[in-house]
Amino acid sequence: MSAHESGPLHPLLTAGAEYPFVKLERRRRELTPEGVTRIDFGMGDPREQTPAFIREALKAAVPAVSSYPATVGKPELRAACAAWMKRRYALDLDPERHVLPVNGTKEAVYTMAFAMVSPGAPRDTVVIPTPAYPVYENGARFAGATPHFVPLRSADSWRFNPERVPEEVWRRTALLWINSPHNPTGAVLDAATGKRVVELARRHGFWVASDEAYGDLWFEGGPPGTLLAHGLDNVIGLFTLSKRSAMTGYRSGFMAGDPRLIDALRRFRPSVGVATPDFIQDAAIAAWNDDAHTPAQRDIYAAKRRLFLDEFARRGWKVEASEATFYLWMRVADGDDVGFVESLLRLGVVTTPGSYLGPGGEGFVRWALVPTLEQCREAIARLGQLAGART
Ligand SMILES: Cc1ncc(COP(=O)(O)O)c(C=O)c1O
Repeated sequence: MSAHESGPLHPLLTAGAEYPFVKLERRRRELTPEGVTRIDFGMGDPREQTPAFIREALKAAVPAVSSYPATVGKPELRAACAAWMKRRYALDLDPERHVLPVNGTKEAVYTMAFAMVSPGAPRDTVVIPTPAYPVYENGARFAGATPHFVPLRSADSWRFNPERVPEEVWRRTALLWINSPHNPTGAVLDAATGKRVVELARRHGFWVASDEAYGDLWFEGGPPGTLLAHGLDNVIGLFTLSKRSAMTGYRSGFMAGDPRLIDALRRFRPSVGVATPDFIQDAAIAAWNDDAHTPAQRDIYAAKRRLFLDEFARRGWKVEASEATFYLWMRVADGDDVGFVESLLRLGVVTTPGSYLGPGGEGFVRWALVPTLEQCREAIARLGQLAGART
């Protein structure tokens, strides 16, 4: 212990709040008996191999002399992103004005509100449908914005209903986060609601950020659309290689949308230090230019999904939404999501309580189907040891 008084720290760092997955790992260490291996359905970190041609592109790109990369990325990367948007969504984007690479979308999510909210400005609110990816809230709070949570509901099929937000909130909104396909519920926003959201943004003068990290992981329901289909004005979309190409470790994605915001972000981001290393960019170019490997990724998740949907049905465990993404959103019969997750932790099976992911998540558990198929089978075998009412 130091004898000196510490320097000041941001109150958000001393308030004792724990990142949900840090808390989950702490509970795992407390509850999983020694010697029981962990099977981790907690974090959405795929255990699948990155396709070999992408790894080769990275290796071939590592230079003898390494220089600072440009925040705007190589023209070839922006062109590959725009070309993918054209093939995937039939959208015509200008790689110069509409596209900006990111070091994984997490940093872009976190820093987004910094570019929009200033101290004392009348628009200080970030609207976040919850349960949600926790970084929307954390980024908003550190930017000095006020989060406004809109709990999603089973009765709305877990889709965001903009009519549940009072006009008075829209008037002070700087940013609305949309996440479709949605983490943790796997719900896909319908086109009519998407259109309505974009109309509201234009009418009230706020930004909509559409986080489409799971856009390529779809199943029976067919490929989800993009919010950018309703026009670029007031809209920015976030796209990542992490899930579609099993590249979480590479940290690579891009933003695309309203040129006014892209231009502002081009000016904001160089001082943040989030330029993507050139050799990662070369791997990303290879990945965005290839459509053949994504169906293979989908097939892997489809097989795990089948396994769990059958097992849950056999047990009478109800899954809601879960049309896309690699998440299953499961209702806990007695409503005690934390208790359910703890009973699984005793078997070494890690899942996430819905209540860890924000208001509206209580009574549900998120299963990230990221362990290997063999581990999934092992987890299902372990469920046989669940005690009492949970069997
Ligand atoms: C909804 C959502 N958005 C964004 C991300 C961040 O992805 P990445 O930073 O790997 O692009 C994640 C990661 O799990 C996520 O679930």
